[in-house]
Amino acid sequence: MSERMSTMIRVSKIAHAAYETPDLAQQTEYYTDIIGLTLVAQEKDAVYLASTVDHHSIVLRKGAQAQCTRVGFQIPDAADLDGFEKQVKSHGIATERRKDPEPSIKDMVVFADPKGTAMEVFKRDAFSHQKFQSKGIVPYKLGHVAFHVTDVKRVTKFYCDVLGFRESDWMADFFSFLRCGPDHHTINLMETGSNRHFHTAFELRDWAHLQTACDFLSLRGYKLLWGPGRHGIGHNLFAYHRAPNGLITETFAELDRMNEELGYYEPRPWHRDNPQRPKVWAKDPSASNLWGILPSDEMMK
Ligand SMILES: [Fe+2]
Repeated sequence: MSERMSTMIRVSKIAHAAYETPDLAQQTEYYTDIIGLTLVAQEKDAVYLASTVDHHSIVLRKGAQAQCTRVGFQIPDAADLDGFEKQVKSHGIATERRKDPEPSIKDMVVFADPKGTAMEVFKRDAFSHQKFQSKGIVPYKLGHVAFHVTDVKRVTKFYCDVLGFRESDWMADFFSFLRCGPDHHTINLMETGSNRHFHTAFELRDWAHLQTACDFLSLRGYKLLWGPGRHGIGHNLFAYHRAPNGLITETFAELDRMNEELGYYEPRPWHRDNPQRPKVWAKDPSASNLWGILPSDEMMK
């Protein structure tokens, strides 16, 4: 490991994702009544939605087109935000410093990733105490955000070198899965022909919770795009549907968790490798779904 890598400041958690959406009220209703997040603050053009100790996990703003515009990452309390900003600048990347930008965040370093999504890096200055909701799916947390990208190698390198992500797995040379904590992936990047949101994923408790979620979605008129199944890469149980604004939501459970010291994922009965370590997977249907059903064309729209 180079000196630079060993001393680098790494983000350790995805904190929030922010979206622009044409119909703010409709998307807010989806996140509260269907996903089961808590509406914690509403300004004229922004809505904050939460599920855990974080003040917000999802931010919605009114915009012409549904898109993910920003992703927030938390660094540990012991880390130095000035040092982190210097680290970003050392790559020739322009940064901006924002004081009191959002509730519960006093100081934030903001910069763009190579595809133009804003990265918001901060220390959590205050924790919230909202209870888990009793209506809707009610996930544990925001798990990951996946993007279509035009240059997967470049964007992957950015997340690793600038933010301190680690490569968890690759599907051939076109789909990377990156972690910033024990969860197998927090950001994943699939090279297609464009730069845009692919899906936003929420972690559920287990298979029973996923079943309840699929029945609940169906009763409320949401059809699954793909799943339920079990991914090969990451080994999570998954089911995908489309939110009212057209963006795809994944609900998942049983995602691989990394033991960083030992360099392998916590062993599970469905693993084919023993132990299961980060690797390049062949472009094979089992990398997508161990249970065999491949994604619909609708998933790639
Ligand atoms: Fe996913």
